[in-house]
Amino acid sequence: MIFQEIYNLAVKMGIESDLRGKAKVQKYLKRVKEKYEKFPVDEKEEFDKEKLTNPFSDTRILIGDPKQKIKTIYVGIDIDSAELMIAKYLSEESGKKIDLALSHHPEGKSLAALDEVMHLQAEILADYGVPINIAEKLMKPRIDEVARGVSASNHNKAVDAARLLKVNFMCVHTPADNLVARFLKNLIEKKKPETVGEIIKILKEIPEYKIAVGLNAGPKIFVGSPDNYVGKIAITEITGGTSGSSQMYEKMSQAGIGTIIGMHMKEEYKKQAEAANINVVVAGHISSDSLGMNVFLDELEKKGVEIIPAAGLIRIRRK
Ligand SMILES: [Fe+2]
Repeated sequence: MIFQEIYNLAVKMGIESDLRGKAKVQKYLKRVKEKYEKFPVDEKEEFDKEKLTNPFSDTRILIGDPKQKIKTIYVGIDIDSAELMIAKYLSEESGKKIDLALSHHPEGKSLAALDEVMHLQAEILADYGVPINIAEKLMKPRIDEVARGVSASNHNKAVDAARLLKVNFMCVHTPADNLVARFLKNLIEKKKPETVGEIIKILKEIPEYKIAVGLNAGPKIFVGSPDNYVGKIAITEITGGTSGSSQMYEKMSQAGIGTIIGMHMKEEYKKQAEAANINVVVAGHISSDSLGMNVFLDELEKKGVEIIPAAGLIRIRRK
């Protein structure tokens, strides 16, 4: 595959699996385009043109020639300078050239713009019955907080390492998180668990989570007990950049949500969910990230690309 085709496929799969629905994402892109066209010249120059076709600010080609042919990819959940060194070492020692390092978690400009993808959370919450005005109002300060939080990091450190090592580098974050969110939503709708314990049982049948159990990182009940009835299940904490607002649980409870399935949850958030009487199942962070990446990587393999799993990625192939 060509580097650009890999990036394009990630964006396409991310849009198609987006819990907002493809039509809403396309409308969003249309609005971005309309705003862009009205910008004055200087703002147009500053504007990242990728935003016109890619709704995921945390997914970008970070460095390299997009026209290059890619046969072998080193893929990890987190690729930093050390991982790039391993990729380079393997490339030279094994004689098998690694053409691209692919990180799930964002680096470089994608990390600096992580907050921009969080808006999708409000729309997903609205689909679960939280009024959109409330979801947006509560998300806004949290998105600003994340923007300020990431602004302090040395975003481009790993990208500089890739440049010096001459390794092509990209990250695919929200498209992969959308793929795992869609996977879990379909599975839960099909299996219709009635208790929280049944959700855990269903998750443990998925190979990535089964392996995570062996690594002491399997699915866990953070709030509630195995015998609790699930009520309405919401897959709201799987995609959308990073954790949303801790004040959302009360509103989710009022919207009739009984149980949420998430990737990970901070203590403060857990307390708020508990106070709102919502059951919380934490599927697992790196295992969930792996599942989403695997759905994408299977498509790359079908097109003849070889995958070298690294840096936390639990690689499972599906037919
Ligand atoms: Fe993650």
